[in-house]
Amino acid sequence: MAKIRTQVGIIGAGPAGLTLAHLLHLQGVESVVLDRQSREYVETRVRAGVLEQGTVELLCASGVGERLKREGLQHNGVELRFDGKGHRIDFHGLVGKSITVYAQQEVLKDLIAARLGYHAPLFFEAEAMRIEEFDAQPRIIYQHGGATHELACDFIAGCDGFHGISRLAVPGEQIQIHERHYPFAWLGILARVAPASHELIYTYHERGFALLSMRSPEISRLYLQCSPEENIEEWPDERIWEELRKRMATRDGFVLKDGPILQKGITPMRSFVAEPMQFGKLFLLGDAAHIVPPTGAKGLNLAVADVRVLTAGLVQVYKHNKRDALRRFTETCLRRVWKTQRFSWWMTSMLHRFPNEDSFAHHLHLAELDYVTSSRAASTTLAENYVGLPFE
Ligand code: FAD
Ligand code: PHB
Repeated sequence: MAKIRTQVGIIGAGPAGLTLAHLLHLQGVESVVLDRQSREYVETRVRAGVLEQGTVELLCASGVGERLKREGLQHNGVELRFDGKGHRIDFHGLVGKSITVYAQQEVLKDLIAARLGYHAPLFFEAEAMRIEEFDAQPRIIYQHGGATHELACDFIAGCDGFHGISRLAVPGEQIQIHERHYPFAWLGILARVAPASHELIYTYHERGFALLSMRSPEISRLYLQCSPEENIEEWPDERIWEELRKRMATRDGFVLKDGPILQKGITPMRSFVAEPMQFGKLFLLGDAAHIVPPTGAKGLNLAVADVRVLTAGLVQVYKHNKRDALRRFTETCLRRVWKTQRFSWWMTSMLHRFPNEDSFAHHLHLAELDYVTSSRAASTTLAENYVGLPFE
């Protein structure tokens, strides 16, 4: 078995793994990144689109923000639509901040190009099979190019998403899971048609939630609440557009133009937190440790927030031989994780229809939306969370 050694072994080349590897490199800490997928797969998988201001600032300050600054769409607000009418939440006016629409796979392309540019190790089609001795002398056993390899490291960063192996490597009695499943999912499409609005529109409707987002001035990204058991085959393009038009209709005649659908898929919704996020020398980051429903656009941003904390802790260890920040990893991360869980749960509950809701429940949704969009205090709460809470 071929053996190599590094300071930090990183499983997963998603937003968490690649951002961590990049920030560590800037601080002179070595790492090796493994991803079981191909580079092409990682660079084309359609997922998140909204970056908090703090995420944008971090990417720009670390030298990977050139294309983001050029191609990202900066938004100063979003629309909440209900009862046939739109209401704008003015982020900039309320909290002086904005968000940027820039696709997750574009962030990943920029991070991959940077890493390959400075010739740091990043292996695709390299699947971590198991983790050994994460308490003492951590090792990742992985498969690459038809052979088994061993990566020995000081620390392991489990950045391998919800379905990865890192969390599962921890014995059940050492980990506590807090979770909630929602009785609905999102059907998402990417379509070649100019976005019908230049800002995002979150719509509550009796037929269910709908969201209009975008990727560029020519590409729209739209989502529809559907049942988790829904079969995508039963949603021909015309049915999707028709349903979106019904939910997004306004009393003053909003027009939603359709266009060729380039990609479609169904995403289940869940809230999930693993506690702790640290087990000896193994750390869990991003979706490996927590999942939020996408209504608050927080998953990627939360992954990057974990990365900030781990980077600061590891830099303290390697540069100053101090371990206190690293010891507080779970505690520091979970404070933000739980506030973000609360916000994502709240946005999801306010904007979706739950099965068997009666007219009383419907009126509560409308009253809450009316309050959020008419009270400056409530709008500010939404804005402050949506653009991203400050860092400690
Ligand atoms: P992932 O992106 O899942 O990356 C994990 C990586 O690990 C993958 O590349 C995988 O191939 C690799 N891996 C897994 N197992 C192994 C193994 N055994 N060995 C080696 N590699 C392995 N978030 C936002 O902030 N804003 C949004 O607008 C937003 N919208 C979303 C919309 C949708 C439809 C979805 C599905 C998600 C959305 N998210 C959003 C969430 C966001 O995409 C995730 O939270 C984010 O991808 C988490 O990053 P990660 O690096 O933790 O994990
Ligand atoms: C997206 O553009 O993919 C997107 C936007 C906002 C969300 C979730 C996803 O809340």
